[in-house]
Amino acid sequence: MDRFVITGPTALAGRVRASGAKNAALPALAAALLTDQPLTLHRAPRVRDLRTMRRLLDHLGIGSEESRADTDAGGDAVLHLRRTGQSSPHDAPYDLVKTMRAGVLVLGPLLARHGYARVSLPGGCAIGVRPIDQHLKGLAALGADVRLAHGYVETRAERLRGARFRFDLPTVTGTENLLLAASLARGTTVLENCAREPEVADLARLLNAMGARISGAGGEAIVVEGVDELGGATHTIIPDRIEGGTYLIGAAMTGGDVLLEDASAADLAPLLDKLAVIGAEVAVSPAGIRVRAGTAGGPLRAGDMDTAPHPGFPTDLQAQYMALMTCAEGISTIRETVFENRFQHAPELARMGADVRVDGGSARVHGPTPLTGAAVMATDLRASACLVLAGVAAQGETVVARIYHLDRGYEGMELKLQGLGARVARVPESEAR
Ligand code: EPZ
Repeated sequence: MDRFVITGPTALAGRVRASGAKNAALPALAAALLTDQPLTLHRAPRVRDLRTMRRLLDHLGIGSEESRADTDAGGDAVLHLRRTGQSSPHDAPYDLVKTMRAGVLVLGPLLARHGYARVSLPGGCAIGVRPIDQHLKGLAALGADVRLAHGYVETRAERLRGARFRFDLPTVTGTENLLLAASLARGTTVLENCAREPEVADLARLLNAMGARISGAGGEAIVVEGVDELGGATHTIIPDRIEGGTYLIGAAMTGGDVLLEDASAADLAPLLDKLAVIGAEVAVSPAGIRVRAGTAGGPLRAGDMDTAPHPGFPTDLQAQYMALMTCAEGISTIRETVFENRFQHAPELARMGADVRVDGGSARVHGPTPLTGAAVMATDLRASACLVLAGVAAQGETVVARIYHLDRGYEGMELKLQGLGARVARVPESEAR
């Protein structure tokens, strides 16, 4: 298990390019289960969750090969997905789903394509209970017979049929699973109270390129006219707004100046608006999104923040925002409204000298508190990004353990940070003091 050894403080400065979005690439891979034709995905991030999904697809009869895009696309990975032709099971085993909840995204396409799917229930997660009841209610509304037994959900349907379904709450992968399933249903499906995340709209773009008929993705209501079969497609994954947002928060909290290239300012608007409010300088141009710490001098101002489904402030940037607030002037209240247990980074930040008081779903940060380097432990993907940023801003050496969490969703983070001037090294556990 590798660790990051970081020496701070460093003002992050320079250019960084966003990788493709993990949370758009995962449902895109699942879409390959809907067709016999090859799929080509450009800008696929080289992160561990994608390798896990590729292993799951391989188990389900979809092979994937990686090639490298030509240089002007920054050497991104290109994934070529095609059926291996072997007869394949229609079940997603516990061993593959337990490490990555997004494995549940094979349920809708398998059921729609084969009339049967058996998928391991994802089980518990560090940040919350995270049930999949909305996925199952939605598939039942499309006519599926849904049974839970022995830790698996088993679903059957001769052919799914179009229906009107309203989610009880916006769910990202729930909306994606229903989009994947409804694409091959007989008739028209109307989905309401959908998740509006950019990753949902990106999946709809891919499915439409495969021959689906989806309209309204990105909004609260989505209409899917089912088709009998889907073809192949070539698709470019959208930039990762969470990865990109992490580097922009790093610029603000270290007194730095970072240009994020090839990212979407529209997708990042909730963060950019907040950074401007607390006193960072935000500039959007064809060259990219530039964030500089308050050129007016003096620390940034504290700013309250509530997480919410898109277009609210993303919960996946909450931990990084908390690290930022430790460097801001005043008291900020952070309310986590999406997940019930997503403040595990707070006690680790406190080990670095932060003054964070958690009370249920709220955390109050008293700042600025100068951070000092320490040995800290990552507990989940975004908590690890928060601790890495804190290490870059802190005085002295920080050792972040368990960065396998980070590798799930950040492509070459230490290299990108080094490119921005940070002194960070990945060291195997055996070498770390
Ligand atoms: C997606 O998870 C992302 N993962 C998460 O990113 C992200 O935090 C989350 O959306 C919210 O933005 C992927 O896209 C692979 P939800 P998902 O269903 O789809 C409750 C990261 O760091 N809910 O939108 O699992 C649920 O418990 C990860 O990259 C139900 O009650 O999240 C939560 O409280 C972490 N029943 C809320 O809805 C359901 O059937 C939102 O969850 C489904 C969800």
